[in-house]
Amino acid sequence: FFAGMHSHMLHSAGSVNQADARILHILFGSQTGNSESLANDAAASAKSHGLRPIVKSMDEVEIGQLAKMEYLLIITSTYGEGAMPDNAEMLWEAASGSDAPRMENLKYSVLALGDTSYDLFCQAGIDWDKRLEELGGKRLFERVDCDVDFEAPAEKWISEVVPLMAEGAATVAVIDTENHAGKSTYNRKNPFPAKLSVNRILTALDSSKETRHYEISIAGSGLSYEAGDAMCVIPTNCPELVADILKALGCAGDEEEPVNGELMKLSEALRTQFEIKLPSKELLEELAKRSGDQELNALLSAGNKDKLNDYLWGRDTLDLLLQFPAVEFSAAEFLRLLKPLQHRAYSISSSGKKYPDSVHLTVASVRYQAHDRQHKGVCSTYLADLAGEGGEVKIFFTPNNNFRVPNDDSLPMIMVGPGTGIAPFRAFLQEREFRNASGKNWLFFGDRNAATDFIYRDEIEAMRASGLLTRLDLAFSRDQAEKIYVQDRMLEHGAELYAWLEQGGYFFVCGDAYRMAKDVDQALHDVVRLHGNKTVTQAVDYVNQLKKDKRYVRDVY
Ligand code: 2AM
Repeated sequence: FFAGMHSHMLHSAGSVNQADARILHILFGSQTGNSESLANDAAASAKSHGLRPIVKSMDEVEIGQLAKMEYLLIITSTYGEGAMPDNAEMLWEAASGSDAPRMENLKYSVLALGDTSYDLFCQAGIDWDKRLEELGGKRLFERVDCDVDFEAPAEKWISEVVPLMAEGAATVAVIDTENHAGKSTYNRKNPFPAKLSVNRILTALDSSKETRHYEISIAGSGLSYEAGDAMCVIPTNCPELVADILKALGCAGDEEEPVNGELMKLSEALRTQFEIKLPSKELLEELAKRSGDQELNALLSAGNKDKLNDYLWGRDTLDLLLQFPAVEFSAAEFLRLLKPLQHRAYSISSSGKKYPDSVHLTVASVRYQAHDRQHKGVCSTYLADLAGEGGEVKIFFTPNNNFRVPNDDSLPMIMVGPGTGIAPFRAFLQEREFRNASGKNWLFFGDRNAATDFIYRDEIEAMRASGLLTRLDLAFSRDQAEKIYVQDRMLEHGAELYAWLEQGGYFFVCGDAYRMAKDVDQALHDVVRLHGNKTVTQAVDYVNQLKKDKRYVRDVY
């Protein structure tokens, strides 16, 4: 498939020129960039079949344009519990509404990306697939739902759907003149072995948290990145955890097991190939079945999702094995119940212009006590404890084309990034400094306590002193009796915030999705309503317009 991507002249019919080639629209809904990169793969394949692909992010398309499309591929991930990715929200709102236009001429197929550890697996793709049919579209090829290991099924979908989309079209000689030479060839299956050159603690030792600054050398790799991009790290599991799991299984570890078509020692497979921390659904179900445990069986039956989540809080695979010692798995059985070990994506905290040879990350180490054991987050503690300064870390990049410093250097930027949410904004500010941008910059930052958690304090204060930061508002939630959060600071300075928006300002949010980003979104609506003298509906429209203009963008997790 990849070899075919850049192939040159294909089934030439000679006389038809490229402008007459059938247009294939490829729309992606993306939270992380995977859908976008698959959309580009599909486009390359479409070109090689004589089609004229047009790739667009869903937020670049109006419902009226969608209704006019004839050949369409939708590639979308699902966000959190069954929701549309941010950039698909508005088009979906229009398409799912009762006044959505009919699409009788449409021929389409959907590729859905998801994660089976969530309940509403691939829901965004399922919703699109169903809705386009309801609106009169013809499904030319069955939807494919991909789990986290999406590459192979996605590649298969592309290779099957594209020829169908091309069927009956005038075939044209398409010369692929794009130069892919400079493009990074590193990805999940072929990561770059980078050097971890710096591992430094940012929080004070008596902080309730441990946040670290990492620098990863990409010198000589040919790789480059932009402020706003994420870097993915492929971790390995903690050897002590592997040892404890082997013990719980009653295995020695040197058993040879087939993994991806090759024999591998069980201990090595558990350390490098499988997710051994977060229990898979399959493992839970098998434990419930074999143990006959009433509580677990009841929790797994439909409708008990919240209770199941409470039960699983802080419980990992080892906790479960220890809890049901009577259930015995052979090595092979156990491996079959595990998911492949995933990479973790981190928002980069440096500008590639200022630091072309290194990538900085700002990562909170996850460590907690639960079920009578010390628990450690997989990748954060891999970086903190295992990789070792000077050691090798396997990495690759995922672009985040929505999350960017504005092209127009004169426009104001408002950045809300408490905790490690500061990461991309450190990069944005470095970028603006490098570009000598004239636009105003406003940072909202906070954490629990100023004395222990004010990470990058010297840098931030220097940026404030130099004027690079026009405004800095801090919210340390636990320095006083009542909680103060970044959204409280937004509301306190609402008039000025609204003025910045009216000047064409950009509003960026990074950090916790479940609480902070929701409350910040509410505060933004309140600021617009109160200081723009608007009704609730008018404020919603105003904020939606900001989203549409890509002036309200989030990188939340
Ligand atoms: P807390 O833990 O004291 O409640 C970074 O984790 C910071 O985000 C902490 O100061 C934390 O405060 C704060 N935080 C927690 N919930 C929040 C919310 N809903 N909105 C904004 N900040 C929040």
